[in-house]
Amino acid sequence: MKFPQDFKWGVATASYQIEGAAHEDGRGESIWDRFSRTPGKVLNGHTGDTACNHYHLYKEDVALMKELGVDSYRFSIAWPRIYPTGKGQVNHRGLDFYKRLVEELLSSGIEPAATLYHWDLPQALEDQGGWLNRDTARHFQDYAATVFGELGDAVRLWITLNEPWCSAYLGYGSGVHAPGKSDLNWYLRAAHHLLLAHGLALQAFRGMNLPGEIGITLNLSPQYPAADSPGDREAARKADGFQNRWYLDPLLKGFYPQDMPEFLTGVAPAIQLGDFDLISAPLDFLGINYYSRGIVQADGQGGYRALPPRGPVTHMGWEVYPRGLYDLLLRVHQDYGPLPLYITENGAAYPDRVEQGRVHDPERIAYLEQHVAQAAEAIAAGVPLKGYFLWSLLDNFEWSFGYERRFGIVYVDFATQKRIIKDSGLWYQSFLKGLARGQTL
Ligand code: FCB
Repeated sequence: MKFPQDFKWGVATASYQIEGAAHEDGRGESIWDRFSRTPGKVLNGHTGDTACNHYHLYKEDVALMKELGVDSYRFSIAWPRIYPTGKGQVNHRGLDFYKRLVEELLSSGIEPAATLYHWDLPQALEDQGGWLNRDTARHFQDYAATVFGELGDAVRLWITLNEPWCSAYLGYGSGVHAPGKSDLNWYLRAAHHLLLAHGLALQAFRGMNLPGEIGITLNLSPQYPAADSPGDREAARKADGFQNRWYLDPLLKGFYPQDMPEFLTGVAPAIQLGDFDLISAPLDFLGINYYSRGIVQADGQGGYRALPPRGPVTHMGWEVYPRGLYDLLLRVHQDYGPLPLYITENGAAYPDRVEQGRVHDPERIAYLEQHVAQAAEAIAAGVPLKGYFLWSLLDNFEWSFGYERRFGIVYVDFATQKRIIKDSGLWYQSFLKGLARGQTL
């Protein structure tokens, strides 16, 4: 396995999933505070009120990252800490937390990589329509400009949005995530406004002449036909349009996929003149989150259905399919290149247990090794892959699954907030040490 000298190895987290301190230093309510309190929405009624208490334990967590030997840390900034009601008066105490965190990272030799939106929309904006309201995109631009102004010198890698498909589809289409709305046309409108918000933040960033680089992170999942038949190939094309191209095309080509007529009709009322110029403005890189693939079959009525996994699955029920990462990276490069790419998330949940002070998680180690190997193969095949961020540093609040799904390479005992580096964390540490010594696996 070979990686370029300047390849960035990191770990990733997100604000609502780890910070806790939900009511401290003037933080406003987010849609996840509200949603997690709505009975039946999150497993066991868990909330992010305390989470990993990273807001207070961030120094300990940065020390862990240093011990692991990572180059970079991808975290997200909570919009309701900066603007408690989404707009208006800046809350400096909220900004100060991220300044302290960034300082701690830099003094530990770790590069900060900041995501501006990892799903915690201020509830006050949701009360005015949230992502269904075009104004939310403007407020996002103002919030982004404030953060760039304060942290734009220290942070050199920026991600506007994390996985707009999830914010829009799970939040407004299927309703399994906050704010829990469900309607196909709402989904399309929310997605368009999210893309617009990305474009507006990018515009603000470019206008400020900052030294760093900026991109967006998409959750992409290659869709394979169940059988090598024309019907199933067509099904896979449709699933790919829904899952991947609906975001890749507007961002990198400047228009929505023309082969999805119902979607085009649904999104049309949300589009205004000039939107695509903003949405498709040049990116410095594309962030890709990869967890698994889809297998799809024609349903005989012009649609498609997803089939169950064909291989081993993680605790999420997601198939472990490392080759999907290679296929995806090559495809994105071929169809949308030559854009630098980052893997901004990759990892696996397993039901870990502490045994005599240790956490043995051989399945996670295998998952990580296999995916990293596919990333190396993609680089060898010519893909300009610049870095890999492992999801996640810590076990955390896994959205509608609460604390029941553990993705960390560091175990968190949520009752005591004690952290234990899992075997997979030790594996990552020795893997990175080996690379630093110039070894290849
Ligand atoms: C991604 C999210 C991240 C985490 C992982 C498992 O979709 O970006 O917050 O929940 O899945």
